[in-house]
Amino acid sequence: MAAENLKWWQKTIIYQIYPKSFQDTTGSGTGDLNGITDHLDYLKKLGVGAIWLTPIYPSPQVDNGYDISDYTAIDPAYGTMKDFENLVAESKKRGIKIVMDLVYNHSSDKHKWFLESKKNRTNSKADWYIWRDAKSDGTPPTNWRGIFGGSAWTWCEERQQYYLHTFAKEQPDLNWENPEVRQALYDAANFWLDKGVGGFRIDAIVYIKKPAEFKDGKPDLDGLFSVHDAYANTNGILDFLHEFKEKVFVGHEIFTVGEANSVKPEDLNKWVGNDGVFDMLFEFSHVNIMFAKGEAWHYPENWKLTDLKRVLTESQKATAQNGWYPIYFENHDKPRSVNNFFEEGADKVKAAKALGTILLTMRGTPFIFEGQELGCTNVAWDSIEKYNDISSHGQYQLMLQEGLTVSQAMKFVQRFSRDNARTPMQWNNKKNAGFSTGAPWLPVNENYKTVNAEIEEKNADSVLAWYRKLSKFRADNKELISGDYELLLADSEEIFAFSRSLNGKTFITAVNFTSQNVNLPPDFSNKKIVLDSESDADKNFLKPFEARIYSAK
Ligand code: GLC
Repeated sequence: MAAENLKWWQKTIIYQIYPKSFQDTTGSGTGDLNGITDHLDYLKKLGVGAIWLTPIYPSPQVDNGYDISDYTAIDPAYGTMKDFENLVAESKKRGIKIVMDLVYNHSSDKHKWFLESKKNRTNSKADWYIWRDAKSDGTPPTNWRGIFGGSAWTWCEERQQYYLHTFAKEQPDLNWENPEVRQALYDAANFWLDKGVGGFRIDAIVYIKKPAEFKDGKPDLDGLFSVHDAYANTNGILDFLHEFKEKVFVGHEIFTVGEANSVKPEDLNKWVGNDGVFDMLFEFSHVNIMFAKGEAWHYPENWKLTDLKRVLTESQKATAQNGWYPIYFENHDKPRSVNNFFEEGADKVKAAKALGTILLTMRGTPFIFEGQELGCTNVAWDSIEKYNDISSHGQYQLMLQEGLTVSQAMKFVQRFSRDNARTPMQWNNKKNAGFSTGAPWLPVNENYKTVNAEIEEKNADSVLAWYRKLSKFRADNKELISGDYELLLADSEEIFAFSRSLNGKTFITAVNFTSQNVNLPPDFSNKKIVLDSESDADKNFLKPFEARIYSAK
């Protein structure tokens, strides 16, 4: 497809902001909308065309905003609706659109809909959530385990019934079978379209459809059966989503990206593209590569580069003709990519540049998560109490139940906690990395004195400088926007290489994923190097984590 025929969101870069951790302007210790507005020029310089905000709606913050108590308002901790409108307007001036996160599988248990629903079995919202009687012995209706651990059912005294929650007990699942519920959700999305937003990221969407019959599954170690296996992608889900598309998305110059863990490649055309329901789907296969075998902490972390190349190449192929691919290596649910995809002792600056080169030269729309462009890294706090992430707490309990020692469990939490991505943004080397003048809601990563935007702005060799260079290079070369993707050196466990070709012009990306020099095949030596992360490149080999782009015929 020629670049001219692509939509705006296929030609740009999207930046994900976790507002709680981006920039505090009030001294509260929590980031806010005005803090985002203050940094729009920084984002513009990075070539960003849209900002995806994780939820900014009123919320008790049990799951940091993914437990929403009002779908059409702004949490006072983040500011006011005026601040939001100002953010949209200031962004627009810079050619940037604002993208909202729709959390429609569940609400907060403090949402007025749920407060009403739980009162009794006859109120006007009685059927807005998923209520079931206890089994005859009083235990929950099924043995399902929620994604954050523990039973997926919680008992409600008032109704003398259980309600279902895919995630925490404070996140009751909405009943999508009820047309009034669906309409209320569509109305809320249309409210944001009227405010001028440029798109939606749709949270945890694969769980909205529940099976006709609720049955126990085969219990695993804690005696429960994962909700994911019980009902992710249940038949009939696409009927809901087609309705959603018609009532909300159609006719707007927006994009939609669904969070869709486990949609199979053969089903992809039903989900994205002309006959699908969304423009893009966030897949999990590449970010879960280290969990190929079951429960996260049973992993032997021995994935190979060829595994990563295989799954990414499958996604590239699946979206080559139909649909479009959102490329990402980080988000607010994942560890920092330099820790996730590279050996423990890897040089973090070089590793960040290496992965950034893949991110910004693959086919699709790149998503940068705040701080990724600086090479931010994981933290490692010494006790579970220091962690905020609700899923780390659930996993920690499960690990102890399974007989892991505290130190084994903590090692896992440190490596994979979602807090790794959620520590405050590192702006400069002053107090709290310039994030806040108050006490930050989550500690700042100790490395902020050397890893921060201000210092990296001044250093031509920094991760930030490399991201800016790549972003500009991508924007200037349409082969990198719409050119075909082809994997090269498929069997190499050291080099990730691919080509991007359009109308006879080709770019080749070659990245060394190891901490050793790696020889290149002889036919690489006569190609022209156009960008290189190392200053004195040798045409015969790549230095540790060196990333290079060639132009070839
Ligand atoms: C999604 C979000 C995650 C949240 C969960 C429940 O996976 O990305 O942060 O905890 O949904 O809403």
